[in-house]
Amino acid sequence: MRRLALLGATGSIGRQALEVIDANPELELVAAASRSQPIDGLAPLTQVGGDLVELLERAEPDVVLNAVVGFAGLPATLWALERGVDLALANKESLVAAGELALAAQRRSGGLLLPVDSEHSASFQCLEGRAPETVDSLVLTASGGPFRGRMREELRDVAPEEALAHPTWSMGPKITIDSATLANKGLELIEAHFLFGLPYEQIEVVVHPSSIVHALVRLRDGAALAHLGYPDMRVPISFALTYPERAATSLPQLDLASGLTLEFHAPDLETFPLLALARRAGERGGTYPCAYNAANEVAVAAFLDGRLPFLAIAEIVEETLGAVDGASAGTLDDLVEADAAARAIAERSFTPA
Ligand SMILES: NC(=O)c1ccc[n+]([C@@H]2O[C@H](COP(=O)([O-])OP(=O)(O)OC[C@H]3O[C@@H](n4cnc5c(N)ncnc54)[C@H](OP(=O)(O)O)[C@@H]3O)[C@@H](O)[C@H]2O)c1
Repeated sequence: MRRLALLGATGSIGRQALEVIDANPELELVAAASRSQPIDGLAPLTQVGGDLVELLERAEPDVVLNAVVGFAGLPATLWALERGVDLALANKESLVAAGELALAAQRRSGGLLLPVDSEHSASFQCLEGRAPETVDSLVLTASGGPFRGRMREELRDVAPEEALAHPTWSMGPKITIDSATLANKGLELIEAHFLFGLPYEQIEVVVHPSSIVHALVRLRDGAALAHLGYPDMRVPISFALTYPERAATSLPQLDLASGLTLEFHAPDLETFPLLALARRAGERGGTYPCAYNAANEVAVAAFLDGRLPFLAIAEIVEETLGAVDGASAGTLDDLVEADAAARAIAERSFTPA
C-alpha cells in the first residue's frame, strides 16, 4: 500500500487522480486538500485552504501528488523533496520558480521526483537508464493551443472564452491560457532543464497539433525514441503514482490503423513571444525563471478577469523580466521575496497609479 496525499483534489488533475486512485487498490488516499471547494469525506484528513505543509506533517504520506496550481504549491514541493517523500509533481510552477533549491533538496534526501506533466513523464521514460553522453537532445511537443496558425494582429481582441477553448486537452483555466500563449511550453522548457539536467540548447520545442507524441529523445547515434499516447492525463498520473510497477489501466490503446498522422512544425516565436522569453529567463538563471512565472501568473489572472488584453500577457512578462534584478535565491524566503517583487512590478505595469 502507498499512502498518498493529494493536493489540489478538486482541480482537473486532482479529479483525474481520484479516478486513478479508485481503480488502484495499492493506493490509499490519506489526505486531500483544496483551496476553497468542499472536500468533506474524501480522505481521512481533508483541508480547505490553510497551510499545506501542516496537512502533510499530520498525514505522513509515502507519496505526495502536488496538483495545486501556481507558486502556492512551492512549500509542499519543498516539503516532500527535503524529507525524501516521493513527489508526483503536476505543479510545474514550483519547479520553475525554485529549480535549484528543489533539486538540491532532492539530491540530499534521495526521494523520487516523478513528473506528472505528460511531456515530462514521456521524457523521463525515454531518458530513463540512458547515459547522459548518449543523449543528443530532448524534444518537447506543444499542441499549439487554440490560436495556432493565427497572426499577432488576429489575437488583439480575443476574449478569455476563446483562449479557454483548448483543441486537445481539457485542463484548469490557468494552464489553458498558458497553452494559448505558449507560456505553458516555456514553463515546461525550464521544468525539463531542471528535471533532466539538460542545458537549454539541448531542449527543443516543436508544435505537434494532435498531441499524440508527448516527447522525443534524439540519441548520439542518430536514433530517436518517442513516447506516444492519446492525450489523457490519467496515463502520466498513473505512471507517477505506481512507479516503477506501471499498473494496468482501462484506458484505450493507441489505434494506429485509424488513420493517425503525425505532423510537426516549428513554433511561431513572433506571435507567441512567451516561449522565447522563457528560454531567455532560463538561460539567465538566478530568479529570472521565478520572475517569469510570477509575472505570468499575475497577467493571466488579469486577462481572465477581463482587466488585460491577451497580447499584454507577454508584454507584462517581458517588462517585469527587464525590471527585476534576477539575483539567485539561496532560501525559500529569498524566493518568496523575489516572487513578491516580480508580482508587484507586474501589477504596477497595468494598474493606473
Ligand atoms: N490539467 C492538466 O491537464 C495539467 C497537465 C499538466 C500539468 N498540469 C499542472 O497541474 C497543476 C494543476 O492544474 P489543474 O489544471 O488541475 O488546475 P485547476 O483545475 O485550476 O485546479 C487547481 C487545484 O489546486 C487547488 N488549489 C489552488 N491553490 C491552492 C492552495 N493555495 N491550497 C490548496 N489548494 C489549492 C484548487 O482548489 P479549489 O478547487 O478549491 O480552488 C484545485 O483543486 C498546474 O500546475 C498545472 O500546470 C495540469
